Amino acid sequence: MTQTAIPHLTNPSYRHEDWLRGYESQPQEFDYWIEEIEGELPPDLHGTFFRNGPGLLAVNGQPLHHPFDGDGMISAISFTGEGVHYRNRYVRTAGFCQEQAAGKILYRGVFGTRKPGGWLANAFDLRFKNIANTHVIYWGGKLLALWEGGEPHRLDPATLETLGVETFDGQLTPPVFAAHPHLDPASPADGGQPCLVNFAVASGLSTTLKLYELDQSARIVRQTTYPISGFAFMHDFAITPSYGIFFQTPTTMQGLPYVLGLRSPAECIRFQPDRPTRVILLPRPGAMPADAQPLVLEADPCFVFHHANAFEQGDDLWVDSICYATFPSLPPGTDFRQVDFSALPPGQLWRFHINLKTQKVTHEVLLERCCEFPSLHPAQVGRPYRYLYLGATHAPTGNAPLQAFLKLDLQTGEQQVWSAAPRGFAGEPLFVPRPGGTAVDDGWVLAIAYDSSHHRSDVLIFAAQDLSQGPIARLHLRHHIPFGLHGSFTPEVFV
Ligand SMILES: [Fe+2]
Repeated sequence: MTQTAIPHLTNPSYRHEDWLRGYESQPQEFDYWIEEIEGELPPDLHGTFFRNGPGLLAVNGQPLHHPFDGDGMISAISFTGEGVHYRNRYVRTAGFCQEQAAGKILYRGVFGTRKPGGWLANAFDLRFKNIANTHVIYWGGKLLALWEGGEPHRLDPATLETLGVETFDGQLTPPVFAAHPHLDPASPADGGQPCLVNFAVASGLSTTLKLYELDQSARIVRQTTYPISGFAFMHDFAITPSYGIFFQTPTTMQGLPYVLGLRSPAECIRFQPDRPTRVILLPRPGAMPADAQPLVLEADPCFVFHHANAFEQGDDLWVDSICYATFPSLPPGTDFRQVDFSALPPGQLWRFHINLKTQKVTHEVLLERCCEFPSLHPAQVGRPYRYLYLGATHAPTGNAPLQAFLKLDLQTGEQQVWSAAPRGFAGEPLFVPRPGGTAVDDGWVLAIAYDSSHHRSDVLIFAAQDLSQGPIARLHLRHHIPFGLHGSFTPEVFV
């Protein structure tokens, strides 16, 4: 693997021990009305903000090797008009219940967690537990906790009680359901009504990709399977009205150390910088002719976890993605607690332009500051759009924990930044439109941030039109929530 020159921060904006405390387990489950509020709650913000992420970083004192192996814990923050209520619950997956009853780690983790007992105890055990820790969405009356390696878990949106594994009336067949659905606000195949588009991927020497489309009753109304050549590690995709867009980044997986119990699957992934990224355009079922074939194009090598958005105009198609110069992995065997951020490549916002006639792909870097967790107005998914909201580093160069929130105007290039450094840490910002608002940035940005100075988390509310002024309201929780992953908002109020 070639190493990319990464600028080092000479004055880190944070202390490693502060960041580390944000990854302490939160074993307690709470129900309470939030009483400590700084600033003013917007009177017209009504609804429920759901957020998922790993809640346990150890099982009965046995530490996990990586937070992405942690059991999913859902937070629900309900804005009722009378006040704001907080609740969190673990997703009672089969594996969570088994490990809690046994009081020890029973499963290997995708990101490096091993069962106690050395490689012999792990060799040839290729089972994983569905940890339901990556995303949570409310769609068609169903609250679903998602993990990319297994079925969704359905939860009661009011109590967060786990109701069971969701198969959508038995229509989910392997590969099942990734953790990154995108909501098409005006699906051509549904008469302009919204639909939920998700994918599934199964990969080895070759890869199977599947597109799912669900109507507003959460019924799978369309699904199509496409075989593609080679290995693929895909966490996210992008949509336009015509396509599901996938990046097959130049990675390989050398699986023998995994089978032998020496490494996890993620630790077996290798980046090959001399190979191109393959951009795969899958025709969306119902939107394109039934005999439309996938288009496979070549772009410069990069690694991608998350795509921000994509849109098409005639023969031109654009994809905005958070790109890394190489796969941002830790050396095998390194515990995440010892991560050296300065040795990791920064994630940067790239814009890819695809000429569908010439099938040429070019890119430009839109944002050099290290960033992740892109979010935009839900009505502009898959369409030309103007504003993007991101978690970002405090410093404009290098890799570091996310401590800032950033709004990028893609029309003017203007950036608005607010940083919680040095003691605060950021996560995914979520844009919520104001009911009745007309401007595309008329609304709020919701986020959960970790305040290490109080070892607690805050729910932050920003006015999206002026993000740089900082939160207009900070809701102090009574405890911390370990750094999380993805969330969503519904205007329905659940308490
Ligand atoms: Fe993700």
